[in-house]
Amino acid sequence: MQLSRRHVREELGVVSERMRRSIVTDIPALGSAADYFFRLGADGKRLRSTVLLLLATRLAPAPPDLARLERLAEITELIHIASLLHDDVIDEAGTRRGVSAANAVFGNKVAILAGDFLLARASVSLASLRDTRVIELMSACLESLVAGEILQLTADPEQALCLDHYLRKTYCKTASLMANSARSVALLGPEPGPDAAQAAWDYGRALGLAFQLVDDVLDFTASADELGKPALNDLRSGLATAPVLYAVQASEPLRALARRRFAAPGDVDAALAIVAAGDGLARARRLAADHADLAVQALGRLPPPACEEAGAAHAALLELTARVLSRRS
Ligand code: FPP
Ligand code: MG
Ligand code: MG
Repeated sequence: MQLSRRHVREELGVVSERMRRSIVTDIPALGSAADYFFRLGADGKRLRSTVLLLLATRLAPAPPDLARLERLAEITELIHIASLLHDDVIDEAGTRRGVSAANAVFGNKVAILAGDFLLARASVSLASLRDTRVIELMSACLESLVAGEILQLTADPEQALCLDHYLRKTYCKTASLMANSARSVALLGPEPGPDAAQAAWDYGRALGLAFQLVDDVLDFTASADELGKPALNDLRSGLATAPVLYAVQASEPLRALARRRFAAPGDVDAALAIVAAGDGLARARRLAADHADLAVQALGRLPPPACEEAGAAHAALLELTARVLSRRS
């Protein structure tokens, strides 16, 4: 475990450095907005890079090509940050990761263009990998991210209360980037075989869904300080996430609140009280745990670790999966 941890820490530093370099531009307004996430020490959890670096170590029968892997991690983080810049504009967010959101500091127009700029830089990096399979996978993520956001934005009241619709949207918004970047790691390594590539994709998908389900629960249970953004954000934005979708099955009053998107005065508090009194939070946690189990099963379908370091990476991935479930922020 020790070896892998140190290895990943060093690599994460390299990925951060690459990202800093990749957002340098001679157009100051663009650079400042894009750099904003880094400058305020808000590097985020770098969950995605960590997963990718560990997965590469886990899959390697020989040392992976680090330069290409770091580039893939950088691309993944750039796409993620670009989507958050756009998301904060759509959500009219005031804070992100504990500081003022970029749109609140630079305005919507610059924040959107900064997101576009990061996508442009990610595209150039992606092309430079010269692997059409990886280019296809990572480009498909962009479509999924947009699809997830539009599914959420345009859901009619029926769809907004349907668990299948929620899971489809959640795959698009959160899990597709993890799934497709995980498969890309397998493809960038030395001939993984179709089973390993599929297992990597399944791992990323299941981990992404578990992560988002926990996020939905934390929106109810964690404080704004812990989250770095306002608590009860989903309810206040009119969104029914997994805890609500389960709770409406036993509460007609909650269904009525959800159908009007918790928009009337007192709706958010009333909904919170109903959710807290029922089993919606417990069932959402259980669904997150089921997806974490699927993630562990997917890891078990990878070929046996070929060296000590691959074994250590396997253990670290198991630990990371457990932490996704137990995290408080
Ligand atoms: C956060 O969700 C948002 C996303 C994970 C995806 C947002 C995607 C878009 C805005 C489509 C455009 C995509 C690109 C690549 C530019 P949230 O609002 O539920 O969570 P939050 O609490 O973190 O804001
Ligand atoms: Mg948002
Ligand atoms: Mg949003």
